[in-house]
Amino acid sequence: VTGPIVVQGAMPVEAERFAQRLENPREEQIGGWRFWRGTVDGYPVVVSETLKGMSNAAAATAIAATQFHPVAIINQGTAGGHDPALKVYDIVLGKYSVSLGAFKTPKKAAGEGSDSRQWQPMDLLASKGSAGEDKNAHSIRQFPADAKLLAIAESVKSGYTQGKVVEGVIGSADVWNSELDRIGYFHENYHTSVEEMETASAAQIAASFNIPFVGIRVLSNNITNQGKYDPQTGLACQDYVYQVVKAYIAKN
Ligand code: 5AD
Repeated sequence: VTGPIVVQGAMPVEAERFAQRLENPREEQIGGWRFWRGTVDGYPVVVSETLKGMSNAAAATAIAATQFHPVAIINQGTAGGHDPALKVYDIVLGKYSVSLGAFKTPKKAAGEGSDSRQWQPMDLLASKGSAGEDKNAHSIRQFPADAKLLAIAESVKSGYTQGKVVEGVIGSADVWNSELDRIGYFHENYHTSVEEMETASAAQIAASFNIPFVGIRVLSNNITNQGKYDPQTGLACQDYVYQVVKAYIAKN
């Protein structure tokens, strides 16, 4: 094993705590993004502040891939619950992620309105041709976690005391959904456990560089069960991922 493990977090509250736990951290700015290079138990780890949203996450992932040649990328941070069984502070280990922002609408004439339940998912990776016209492009693309990373993430879950840790599906888009019917539709049709704005994007880019990837997300809010927003959950997630990173290093 040679390259570093990259740990991504979108906001300062999702990245700085991990950066502070690095040994000998050195902060580096590349374009609009901050990175901290250091070690954990002597093994190289890079913390990346991706900033929020799909475009920022994709760019930060591509930069990390070409600059650092990581052996693994962990995207982590806060998320909103789609599953009423999950509470604020519970953690979802993403067995895969999906885009909740790539759809094709049916044709409707002026005055016929808009109904997002009729939209079909659009897989932008299905072919080189037009995804809008390609009949094979209308199933949802899943970005799977690396099996070994997921197993390591599972292996430390008994040490987490602030909630439960489950495997689930992470949905990503530059949208904050607060319509319970829309959330219920995603949960039923695409099996989403949580939503946020980065994981599927980072996963897509990691896959195109063949870098093992996993998304790990803490619920900071869940309107399906009145779970109030708590940004401190972002700290709990970094503490969990720190244990995942230590377990990875111990095994390699
Ligand atoms: N919906 C969308 N994004 C959320 N985030 C936390 N909760 C939600 C939610 N319910 C995360 C996103 C983004 C920022 C707005 O917080 O990943 O970085």
